[in-house]
Amino acid sequence: MSLPAMAQTAPDATDPIIINDGELQLETVASTPEHLEGVLPELYSGWLFRDSETQAMQTDDFENPGMIFVDQGIDDWNMVDGNAGKSCASCHEGIESMKGVRASMPRVNGDGQLWSMEDYINDCRVERMQAEALDWNGDRMKNMTAAISVQSRGMPMDVAIDGPARPFWEQGKDMYYTRYGQLELACANCHEDHYGDWIRADHLSQGHTNGFPVYRLKQAALVSQHNRFRGCIRDTRAETFPMGSDEFRALELYVASRGNGLPVEGVSVRH
Ligand code: HEC
Ligand code: HEC
Repeated sequence: MSLPAMAQTAPDATDPIIINDGELQLETVASTPEHLEGVLPELYSGWLFRDSETQAMQTDDFENPGMIFVDQGIDDWNMVDGNAGKSCASCHEGIESMKGVRASMPRVNGDGQLWSMEDYINDCRVERMQAEALDWNGDRMKNMTAAISVQSRGMPMDVAIDGPARPFWEQGKDMYYTRYGQLELACANCHEDHYGDWIRADHLSQGHTNGFPVYRLKQAALVSQHNRFRGCIRDTRAETFPMGSDEFRALELYVASRGNGLPVEGVSVRH
């Protein structure tokens, strides 16, 4: 596989995503965060690069296949589990209390570790509910991250990259520009140099994460950020990092920071 000479191609249209006949409007373009000035002219939602049928599904919560999993996540939120006899709601009350959480994840915790939303969920389950940790890529975990993400829909992504987050961010940035695999391609080769181009049957986006977890039509399932990273690295015929690894947390932070300013779309629909 070879890529043509560098060509950043803006999408044909940059309409907002109008959800449920206007109940909510999500902008699909944002101005470039400071750390990407001169690198990307503007930020574009991945939604703009999808075909019109896929786009339409995301404009109506009844048509969006990811919303069923949001409902399942909310059921789980209210369900008692573990030896402490508690549910998430016992302490956090309604799931609306999670508004804003998705926009700031991943984030450095009080102990100086970089944590994804999955880590916060499992920490509460294990330490506060005395329940089992959920599998990173299991349905219950994805349903919960989906239910929590929807609470922030429309809020601009705003991950911190300074202070204690800085070394993790630098690590993620190095990964983003590292060429992997037999194809010797870095994330940047596809999502920075070639967005708007077609690669086989795929219309390349800027590879933002504001739509995660996404419902992928191809897999007929919710897909987490780390699973998507794994798939992209595999496509370069490289060995990949495990989901929930420190490497993918750092990459998650860096990729999220490239989308700072784009509204949270999760649960988005992608092909
Ligand atoms: C026994 C009480 C308790 C239970 C039960 C509990 N949590 Fe928590 N949770 C907390 C506390 C306390 C914090 C830390 C709040 C803080 O530091 O601001 C927290 C933090 C979080 C955070 C990070 C939020 C943020 O803004 O930093 C998430 C996400 C979260 N909990 C999800 C869950 C989920 C999902 C469940 C159920 C599976 C759950 N929690 C169950 C007490 C609880
Ligand atoms: C060979 C080209 C290629 C490389 C290299 C690549 N990707 Fe992708 N990526 C794709 C394609 C194709 C898609 C699906 C279409 C799209 O959304 O761009 C995709 C999708 C994504 C998405 C989903 C975007 C959305 O809106 O749903 C994310 C996030 C992503 N890639 C991140 C990465 C990261 C991080 C790396 C580096 C570890 C990477 N990609 C490397 C080709 C690539």
